[in-house]
Amino acid sequence: MDRIRIRGGRPLEGEIPIGGAKNAALPLMAAGLLTDGPLVLRNLPDLADIATMRRLLELLGLRAEHDRAARTMTLSGAATHLEAPYDLVRRMRASVLVLGPLLARHGRARVSLPGGCAIGTRPVDLHLKGLELMGAEITLDGGYIEARAPRGGRGRLRGARILFPQVSVGATENLLMAATLAEGRTELVNAAREPEIGDLARCLAAMGARIEGIGTGRLVVEGVESLAGATHEILPDRIEAGTYACAAAITGGAVLLRGAQAEHLGAVVKTLQEAGVVVEETAEGLRVSRRNGLAGVDVMTEPFPGFATDMQAQFMALMAVAEGAAMVTETIFENRFMHVPELNRMGARINVHGASAIVRGVPRLSGAPVMATDLRASVSLVLAGLAAQGETVVNRVYHLDRGYERVEAKLAAVGADIERLPG
Ligand code: EPZ
Repeated sequence: MDRIRIRGGRPLEGEIPIGGAKNAALPLMAAGLLTDGPLVLRNLPDLADIATMRRLLELLGLRAEHDRAARTMTLSGAATHLEAPYDLVRRMRASVLVLGPLLARHGRARVSLPGGCAIGTRPVDLHLKGLELMGAEITLDGGYIEARAPRGGRGRLRGARILFPQVSVGATENLLMAATLAEGRTELVNAAREPEIGDLARCLAAMGARIEGIGTGRLVVEGVESLAGATHEILPDRIEAGTYACAAAITGGAVLLRGAQAEHLGAVVKTLQEAGVVVEETAEGLRVSRRNGLAGVDVMTEPFPGFATDMQAQFMALMAVAEGAAMVTETIFENRFMHVPELNRMGARINVHGASAIVRGVPRLSGAPVMATDLRASVSLVLAGLAAQGETVVNRVYHLDRGYERVEAKLAAVGADIERLPG
């Protein structure tokens, strides 16, 4: 298994290109099931999760041509097989996003229940309740979700008013896609407002879907009979951008994040500024630098535009070397502090009390062999390694490869002493 070795202490200087957003690309690929296509997705990141989604779509019967050099994928055809198997769904929970499109277009689907994962139990009850409100009959059998469109009604789902008791990115995406081909009008209330949802809605609209309220918490969809192909440019990855902003900040460097947009980062920009990081918007992207010390700032994760849970671990690494204390509260997932014991092994002083962690800043971290069991926790250890004295080896790099394209190459290009050790 590959590892990444970092020798810390070098300020990052230069430019990092920000790729297309993983969490936009995955639902956009699932949207390929709603049309014969072709659906052309541009600015596609080259990541392990994208390869997994491609395998799933091919297994379902779509054609998927991936032109890596052009960063483009073209999806076409219709599903011939309506089952997402356990083996793929357990590897990548976003596989469950094929449920809404398959059911809406083909009137039935069989998708493995994802089960728990490293950051929490992560149920899919909101996805299923919403589909039931649209008339679907859902049973659970042998670890699989068996879903059928209502009998009668020509095998189509019906529009419904769906009020989410809790904001869910995935449930909003699944139901939005299902609603585009349902009979009549669907209203999604308390829908997630993450930029990736707006990106999905804009692509669906380009395919012929009728959607109002894009960018708001109330999406209204008027179902249509069929959707056509389209060409869509995936928005930049705000979490990749936020992560490299923390890398510039933790090393006291100055980096241009080419293509990044402040409006996508929500509360993250203001929080970094409060901590003493300079974040400037330019026509080319975000310029992030730090010359003075870092101050401890309290944060609480929230749905967009609040502080993203996907930035919590990286911000905690930054707070580990700030002056004073910071309280970091995680409200989205119940088990997203796995980076804490590893950061503490590097000399951080962090105590977890329930959903909050108290971070007491230390002047310096020290390098150590570390590992983590999820993507953002892993990258927080890379950030800590960039600031630490001595050598850090991050194990289980495959977590990083799920969501960060060529992380070691991008960091090395701005002056980090970092390399991948093939395992
Ligand atoms: C998406 O996951 C992202 N994944 C996650 O990114 C991100 O952390 C998360 O949204 C929150 O922003 C993708 O976009 C592929 P949710 P998702 O449904 O859709 C609970 C990363 O590192 N919930 O918004 O699965 C759930 O347990 C990843 O890139 C239910 O209770 O998240 C959680 O507590 C990790 N029932 C909360 O809602 C449901 O049916 C928010 O989850 C659905 C969710």
